[in-house]
Amino acid sequence: MSLKPKPLPYSFDALEPYISKKTLELHYTKNYKVYNKKINELISGTSFEGMELEEIILKSASSEMDIFNNAAQSWNHDFYFRGLAPPVRQEISLTVLNRIHDSFGSVEELKKEFFKNSMNHFGSGWTWIVENIDGSLSVHTTSNAEHPLLHHEVPLLVCDLWEHAYYLDCYNERTNYLSNFWQIINWNFVEDNLLKTPLLRPSTGDKFMDGGASSDYLA
Ligand SMILES: [Fe+2]
Repeated sequence: MSLKPKPLPYSFDALEPYISKKTLELHYTKNYKVYNKKINELISGTSFEGMELEEIILKSASSEMDIFNNAAQSWNHDFYFRGLAPPVRQEISLTVLNRIHDSFGSVEELKKEFFKNSMNHFGSGWTWIVENIDGSLSVHTTSNAEHPLLHHEVPLLVCDLWEHAYYLDCYNERTNYLSNFWQIINWNFVEDNLLKTPLLRPSTGDKFMDGGASSDYLA
């Protein structure tokens, strides 16, 4: 059974004017779908066939770099697309807001940290907001296909730093792309990732599960 590409959760033009229809269409069809096709070709007839993508990432990381790279890139792209949403006024829930305040002090400080890490990252890669094993949140980048799941971190959000994600819209101005990205973050997706139990989520107990009421804070 092959790993089917996940559908884009919105139309190609849904993120305009922050990400153009052309960029999103190319990104989804020419990058994500190609990684998905490649990973299916690579695992066909191997012990990885039939595994979930997360399991392939974890089990291939130390031995099968071609499989690992394509599995991780496929996973990352789907996660990136689902972390974005059409530009409507979206509240950050009190649950997420409290966690951001605990780790960064404020949303503005998280944004500064996110931008600083992204701008300081040399070359292609990804910027992550993750939940650490102690329940704190942090921001860091990864190069190539290095993946938070390998470090027992729970990914909450990711930004694609490869130039194909923004060159058509912003040329090489990564800072403009980051500003656009920040306008269309799907904060409900971030909350879902905080509250669910992913494959390797560390045992954090109930103390991180409180809150949930919406605040009037706007991103
Ligand atoms: Fe990409």
